[in-house]
Amino acid sequence: MNSAVKMILSMAAVILVVIQFLPRAHNEGRIVPANDINGVLDVPGNVQVVLKTACYDCHSNNTRYPAYAMIQPVRMMLDRHVAEGKKNLNFNDFATYSARKQNSKLRAIAESLDEGTMPLASYTLIHRNAILSVKEKALLQNWVKRSAERLLLKQQK
Ligand code: HEC
Repeated sequence: MNSAVKMILSMAAVILVVIQFLPRAHNEGRIVPANDINGVLDVPGNVQVVLKTACYDCHSNNTRYPAYAMIQPVRMMLDRHVAEGKKNLNFNDFATYSARKQNSKLRAIAESLDEGTMPLASYTLIHRNAILSVKEKALLQNWVKRSAERLLLKQQK
């Protein structure tokens, strides 16, 4: 191995060690029942299970951190996805959204399911059990449709 390659490799090793000490975010917060999606919509048990398995790591107040999430730069990526995911849609805060926002979030969920953009591919690469089966996708799609209709009825009252 020539010395330039050796130098680059040892620098990379040093960087890899140093970044392990970067602070990690901990998305392990409290769930206020009144703010949760269950507060406004009926979420049947089987739908809940799919959402928790495939979506909640990035769209709720609690991420289940796998062991490899202790390792940088994996954690950095995960932390960014969680922060961004929660900002866009947080099932634990759903009841705090305005009626209009609740409607538009349901529409966005339907879209993400139709287009297959969620869960993120970088996530399902490792979380194989978060890949939605045809059945699970249909279950969520039906639930979103029912929920949107229910919200509309509620708002017309
Ligand atoms: C690994 C993290 C991660 C997982 C898991 C995940 N998402 Fe997301 N989601 C994001 C991020 C990051 C964004 C914002 C950036 C973007 O749209 O790509 C987002 C955006 C969205 C949006 C757009 C919100 C808006 O108002 O435009 C919807 C809807 C959504 N996700 C639904 C889901 C659903 C449903 C699941 C589960 C089937 C899921 N996501 C799983 C990270 C995730």
